[in-house]
Amino acid sequence: MKIFVTGCAGLLGANYTRHLLSNGHEVVGIDDLSGGYKSFVPKGENFTFVKLNLERRKKVVELFDQHKPDVLLHFAAYAAEGLSPFIRNFNYRNNLICSTNLINECINYDTKVIFTSSMAVYGEQEPPFIEDKKPQPVDPYGIAKYAVECDLELARDQFGLRYTIVRPHNVLGIYQNIWDKYRNVIGIFIRKALNGEPLLIYGDGEQTRAFSDIKYYMEPFDKLLTDFDGEVFNIGADKYFTLNEVASVVQKIAKKYGYEVPIEHGEPRHEVKHAYCDHTKAKNMLDFRDETDIEDLIESMFVWAMKQPNRKVKHMEYEVEKNMYDYWKK
Ligand SMILES: NC(=O)c1ccc[n+]([C@@H]2O[C@H](COP(=O)([O-])OP(=O)(O)OC[C@H]3O[C@@H](n4cnc5c(N)ncnc54)[C@H](O)[C@@H]3O)[C@@H](O)[C@H]2O)c1
Repeated sequence: MKIFVTGCAGLLGANYTRHLLSNGHEVVGIDDLSGGYKSFVPKGENFTFVKLNLERRKKVVELFDQHKPDVLLHFAAYAAEGLSPFIRNFNYRNNLICSTNLINECINYDTKVIFTSSMAVYGEQEPPFIEDKKPQPVDPYGIAKYAVECDLELARDQFGLRYTIVRPHNVLGIYQNIWDKYRNVIGIFIRKALNGEPLLIYGDGEQTRAFSDIKYYMEPFDKLLTDFDGEVFNIGADKYFTLNEVASVVQKIAKKYGYEVPIEHGEPRHEVKHAYCDHTKAKNMLDFRDETDIEDLIESMFVWAMKQPNRKVKHMEYEVEKNMYDYWKK
């Protein structure tokens, strides 16, 4: 199978591309390295890397014309949910318009789409979220993801496009960008611990999230390459933790490796308080199983992070400065 993977330098893309290559697939990986790193991009004789911003529509058209892929795994996005109200224009261009460039060509070349949406589409509802709950996103990131979901459905109805939507949540693993101060709470805690800085929790820390190990996503994605059409699947861990609990786990592991840091609390963010999903559908239809061990997972990430270069922390250009949180002010 010839497979396109967008976002191949990021967490899901770098891990799943390696899995595809080890199973003999031919992969073209696309990434503009805005949120991932060149050293995370896999290498291999069946792999071609294309550095490209997906906003460049003509280049996307050329790539599809050249390779005519069977399947597209569309992972590329800027998943900084809390920042998205301050970078509206960038959020919609990067997470929605780029997706439309790909959807056009998937229609033209009869390419099946596997799209990673997000738990963010559910918004502030009573968890655990089930796939058939009506999406009610509460931020531009969630709106962009839901808009892509709706567009895929339209493209199927009008043009017969085949697609599957996966709504992951709080995925963790190596090749995660831990140098971005706007996203991935555990990655941020790990970077701070390595730099000897306090672990800053936004608000009282009683927010709950379910963190899952990337390794449990590989087999469900394999099934989606050929099976299912028009389905939506939640994938992630069942067991949820408060941010106070995960901060304590990072603090304990950091101490084990010689880094002692305090935990502090800062201004609360505009965010959903309790967010985790029901995964019964993925368990029944994709044989999905999750055996995430949060302590082992954080320790393996910590050990990986210790070996990484001390990269520059990313700073975004804000489009709106009103009500900006103190910890993100320049
Ligand atoms: N990691 C999670 O917990 C999580 C949760 C819910 C949804 N998701 C979704 O899953 C997908 C993958 O997430 P991830 O954690 O691997 O993200 P990531 O940031 O690690 O990887 C995304 C990659 O996409 C690339 N990219 C971004 N914009 C691009 C553009 N315009 N053109 C080309 N490349 C571009 C980045 O450089 C990066 O390497 C995203 O769509 C994200 O919204 C992730």
